[in-house]
Order: sequence, then structure tokens, then C-alpha cells
Amino acid sequence: MNTTRRTFVKNVAGGISGSLLLSNLFDSSQAFSFPEIGQEIKPDDEQFWKLVREQFPLTHERVYFNNGTIGPSPYVVREAVKAAIDDLDKRGEYGGWEVARTKLAEFVHAKESEISLTHNTTEGINIVAWGLPLKRGDEVILTTHEHVGNALPWLNRAKVDGIVIKTFQPAQTASENLNRINDLLTKKTRVIAIPHITCTIGQVFPAKEISKLGHDKGLFVCFDGAHGPGMTNLNLAEIGCDTYAACSHKWLCGPRGTGFLYVKEELLETLQPKFVGGYTDLGWDLTTGPIEFKGFVPTAHRYDYGTQNAALYIGVASAVDFFFKIGVENIVRRGNSLASTLQQKLLELGDKIEMLTPTEEQSRGLMIGFRLKNIPYDKFGEHASKKGFRIRLVPESHLNSIRVSTHMYNNFDEVLRFVEAVKEVA
Ligand SMILES: Cc1ncc(COP(=O)(O)O)c(C=O)c1O
Repeated sequence: MNTTRRTFVKNVAGGISGSLLLSNLFDSSQAFSFPEIGQEIKPDDEQFWKLVREQFPLTHERVYFNNGTIGPSPYVVREAVKAAIDDLDKRGEYGGWEVARTKLAEFVHAKESEISLTHNTTEGINIVAWGLPLKRGDEVILTTHEHVGNALPWLNRAKVDGIVIKTFQPAQTASENLNRINDLLTKKTRVIAIPHITCTIGQVFPAKEISKLGHDKGLFVCFDGAHGPGMTNLNLAEIGCDTYAACSHKWLCGPRGTGFLYVKEELLETLQPKFVGGYTDLGWDLTTGPIEFKGFVPTAHRYDYGTQNAALYIGVASAVDFFFKIGVENIVRRGNSLASTLQQKLLELGDKIEMLTPTEEQSRGLMIGFRLKNIPYDKFGEHASKKGFRIRLVPESHLNSIRVSTHMYNNFDEVLRFVEAVKEVA
């Protein structure tokens, strides 16, 4: 363990939660039995969050504001992955990835039997888009702000099977978005398949209300949840959707190439698995007597099959532990506080900027999207990059805008410095 991490453990144990025995805070082997901090940490407790920052190998040479694309992993996750690779290679064995299913279920408030382990969000969306019983003419609702990972699977199903895609332009408030979805409904609507949080401007849709609206009309409600886990304290039982496709490599800060698909228990027999193999079945026989196939396991494990990269999924479990130990709510509040400060400061620039992310609290997450009136987005990108900020430019949906993501490892000073960089050219 390096000095900064030792300091973190010491400070957390001594200063912030003295009563807890936290000396093994990041010892993943003891992670599950270890007490959580269980205490509210203020979003502006810079001393605490500085120590959190030190848990990440992120360079100090620049400011990383692009968690919406990829969330860097903290040391503890990297070490869990490395240790697992070592262990597996030493023993010449495989297996061990199931720990991620257990941890993810706990993290998103779902049953373990409702979690399929995927490699990214797109894979989960494809499982849903191809597995639902849809026929020519059936309508699916998307937004005009889709990521390619949610657009293409549905466009492909439309091309092959003749389903019809309807879209709505996201509005600034939760209630208006519900109206817009409602306005698109026809007798042929079968699925609402929108993002929980858009990649373009970080708009948070009211997932619970949309699920209710959809279910009242007998529809499938299937979220693209790429940004949900870790940006929100995700509670899928409460949201009540049918499926939720997500990744662990953004806001959860897990290893790249890991994700999960939540499939509500009641939907398992409806959502047909198209890719199947090892571990998905209840038994089969091609050798004796009549050919036999006993069907699929009664869980969402039927959607993932074959050998997985156990070390990566062990890393996912470790990322969940990292969140639990700091406190999911603490992390979300911190990111939120940074994002709302950024949005507020940008709004103070008046008509020099065009704010794209809703200001309504429930519709805003940890990504802020905006445009500058007098300078093209890509020119601003160059300026920001020279100033040492890694942001994301958004050509998607013809938005030509700027997106800034804030996570637990960012701080208020970085936000204010970024606003200064905006002012310089605005
Ligand atoms: C809203 C949204 N959906 C889907 C994806 C695709 O995610 P993945 O790379 O995990 O497949 C992304 C990635 O940025 C995204 O932002």
C-alpha cells in the first residue's frame, strides 16, 4: 500500500469515523464483512474528498472531466484485478466471476437471479432488442438524443423485422417528458426504450414514472442505463422497469469491458435468449435416445454464457465495495454538488452561453452540457485541452456542444478553474 492510501485509511479511521475499525478499508479480501462508513460525509469536506482522490491513479497533469465516457478505476480495483489474474494463472483454473452478480444485485437493489453479466451496455441492449417478442409494425419509443449503443440495436431490429421507431425530443422538465412520451403512444406501441440518463446533456429522465406510465399501457419499459449505476444510487426495485442495461466502466469505476443487464423476474420467460451456451441451460443430451433439451435456467444467467474474464468481474465486485465503503449517497451527493456548482457558475455568464442540461434538480445528474455563443464547440475543445481539461465534445444529435462530467475525484477548485477557462473565450 502506498503512502497516500495509507494516509487515507488512517485519516478515515481516525478522523472521520473513529469508532469504526477501518484499517482494512481497502482490503478487498475482507470487503464484504467489513463495516461500512455509514455516515454522512459533506459534499464540501475537501479534506475527505482529497483523500478519495488519492485512491485514483489519475494523473495530476490534467483535470479529468470525462467520466461520462470512461470512469477510471481506483487502485483497489486495479489491485483486485491483478491479484485475481495472478491467482488464476498460478492455479491454472478459471471461474470466480459470480461474485460480481451478487455484488451488483445488492448495489442496484435487485435479486441476484435478475442480473446477467455482460461486457458493456450495448450488449445488454442488444439482448433486449432481439429478445422481445415484436412483430412488423410494432412501435418502439426512443429519444432524439440516443447513443449509438441504444440507437443501432433498435434500428437493426427495425431493418430486419420491420418494427417502427418513434422518437421524441427531450424537454427540460420531468413532467413535460412524460407528456411527450404519452403523446407518442398509439395502439401499436410496445416498448419504451429510452436512456435513463442521456449521454448528450446528462438529462435524467423520471425512470419510475416512465415505468408506471408504460406499464399502465401494457408496454415493456427497457432503459439504456449506461450512466445509472454510480451516478445515481440506483434502486431498480423502486424504478420497476422491465430491463435495465448498464456498464460498470463509467460511474461505478469498474474495469473496462464489464456490464450487466437487469431483467425483471416476471419477464424472463418473455425475453428470449438468442445467444446461449455454457451455464444457461437446465440440461441437454444429443447422445442417448430422444434428443433432449430441458430449457434454460430460471434466472437471468440464461443471457450470459461461456467463460468470462473472472479477474475483471472480481474487479467489478471490488468497485462496488469501494462505493459501499465510502457510501453511495456520499459519492452521488459529492458529484451532484460539483455539477450544480458548475451549472450555476456557467449560468452566471448569462447570454454568453447556452445551457442545455436541465436546471430542474430531478432532471439533472453529474454531466453538464452547454454551448458557447461566440465560439464553435470544437474550437472551445482545443482551448480546454490546452488549459489541461479533458472534456467531451458532443457532435451527437447535431448538438455540437460541450459536456463536462464531475465525479468523486474532482473538486471545486477544478470546477472554478474550468469556468475561468470558459470566461477567457466567452
Ligand atoms: C447513454 C449511453 N448508452 C450506451 C452507451 C454504450 O455503452 P457501452 O460502451 O458500455 O456499451 C453509452 C456510452 O457512452 C452511453 O453514454
